[in-house]
Amino acid sequence: MPVAMTDLPTEFPDFGLTLHQRRQAVRGLYWEWPGMDSEHGEIWCYSDRFSYRRGETVTLHVSSTASSFSMAIVRDGGIETKMSEKAGIAARWQDTPDQCSVLGCGWDASFEFRVGDDWPSGAYRVTLTADGRDGKPVRCHHLFIVTPQPGKKRGRVLQVAATSTWLAYSTWGGSNHYEGITGPNRDQYAPMVSTQRPWCRGFVVLPKEAPRVPLEVAVAPKTVPRYPHMEWAFATGHSKKYASSGWASYDSHFFRFAERAAYAVDLASQHELHFSPEILDGYDCVVFVGHDEYWTWEMRDAVDAYVERGGHAARFAGNFMWQTRLEDEGRRQVCYKYRARAEDPVYRGGDVTRATNSWEAPEIGRPGATTFGLNATRGIYAGWGGCAPRGVRGFPVYRPEHWAFAGTGIYYGDLLGADSHVYGYEVDGLDHEIHGGLPYPTPDSGAPDGLEILAVGMAAQVEESADIPFEHQFLGDEDGRFTAETLFGEASDANLDKVKRGNGMIVNFRRGKGEVFHAGSCEWVAGLLRQDAMVERVTRNVLDRYLGKS
Ligand SMILES: [Fe+2]
Repeated sequence: MPVAMTDLPTEFPDFGLTLHQRRQAVRGLYWEWPGMDSEHGEIWCYSDRFSYRRGETVTLHVSSTASSFSMAIVRDGGIETKMSEKAGIAARWQDTPDQCSVLGCGWDASFEFRVGDDWPSGAYRVTLTADGRDGKPVRCHHLFIVTPQPGKKRGRVLQVAATSTWLAYSTWGGSNHYEGITGPNRDQYAPMVSTQRPWCRGFVVLPKEAPRVPLEVAVAPKTVPRYPHMEWAFATGHSKKYASSGWASYDSHFFRFAERAAYAVDLASQHELHFSPEILDGYDCVVFVGHDEYWTWEMRDAVDAYVERGGHAARFAGNFMWQTRLEDEGRRQVCYKYRARAEDPVYRGGDVTRATNSWEAPEIGRPGATTFGLNATRGIYAGWGGCAPRGVRGFPVYRPEHWAFAGTGIYYGDLLGADSHVYGYEVDGLDHEIHGGLPYPTPDSGAPDGLEILAVGMAAQVEESADIPFEHQFLGDEDGRFTAETLFGEASDANLDKVKRGNGMIVNFRRGKGEVFHAGSCEWVAGLLRQDAMVERVTRNVLDRYLGKS
């Protein structure tokens, strides 16, 4: 049933945590590691790659306290299809290095199988089940992608899963690009993360009740922010970052919607964009969704060239922020982020345009807007913490006559997707000005020629309140200071003031022989998940036009 949320509760949901536990849920470092459930027994699994073609061999690396396990593989699309089942596969416990998030687990291969010749492109969920020490079953979930076959793809959509962002956020093993156990005091985030480890809990499957990041609460005056998703994660044993990234929270909702709406949709990982850019050839429409924050230079080259020669890119995603590099044939992702200028070796004699810093760092010279029309540092947070917690829940529409809104019934000044809360929790924007009631990019915004702004909402890059003390802020002004320094050379108050007010947009522009449509919000997929008719219609308008159906 479609959901309308006009009557929001006034209290935060409560998951039974004490005050101390609630603080721990948000401020504490907690993660999945081999040995964490040794009393009950464990099973963990990863595959050698993110994606495979038909006929290729998937190698699973498994570590378990049990001596055997069973495996079920389900294709997770518009419907769930059981593809294969097998019982009695041998397992053993395998040692894992302390810094496995960085180095990979290094487990021996446990089991191999061949991707069937009739397995359609898509996401394949692997569930391993074994007997726990107390007789109760223990389980783990993994996901791999089956990529499309080469050849013409007339009428088909290619969705590229945001696997670089999954990798950046995965908490498995203790370190990711946000927090971690690296450095002399075991308290630093990892600038390098390995694909050779299991996904964290909640990236592959989630129960329906798992909260999304944006608040579904009418926040009372002077309220100290709470973070229901992290509290729920802490209370239920899920990853602290389950709601920030992953197939279950983001990419799956578009893929399932597209199949249910009878689109022919294929799936690839970002590794294909990087290593096999020809995968885009022949598609009329390529789609990016959800929280899509980490890209390599080569991935952008692939999309830019595809659009130039007549392709259509539709991005329903937010936070186009960081350049990454891939090493070890893609098994290692590098992103120094906030420490790039101090630590990334390319600043000491390498090619500085490949620095793993914000795309908008002047030394890189390739703002995200040149590919997708919007920039991350002009956008950022909305609808959580102290960043516009009572802000718009949908996109304020300025150009309702645009083809993307045909048939929605939307008016000038309406909010698109407010009921389903599509606006947040990270959005991408542009510096702009309003004339005669219509927004235009400013001349120095970096917007591509001819870009049209269809919708604009407000966002914040700092958590700032006269009523909430700094120690109660989770986001604070760290990101804002970083952006100030990256763009203007110094993290001064004056520079912070230039960057702290952001926005999130829907934009459309032509490039070469092709075209880009970009609804710059992580939460667009919430509109598809919650069956918001207007959000579904806009999504279909974009797909239909780009597939030549309308
Ligand atoms: Fe992000």
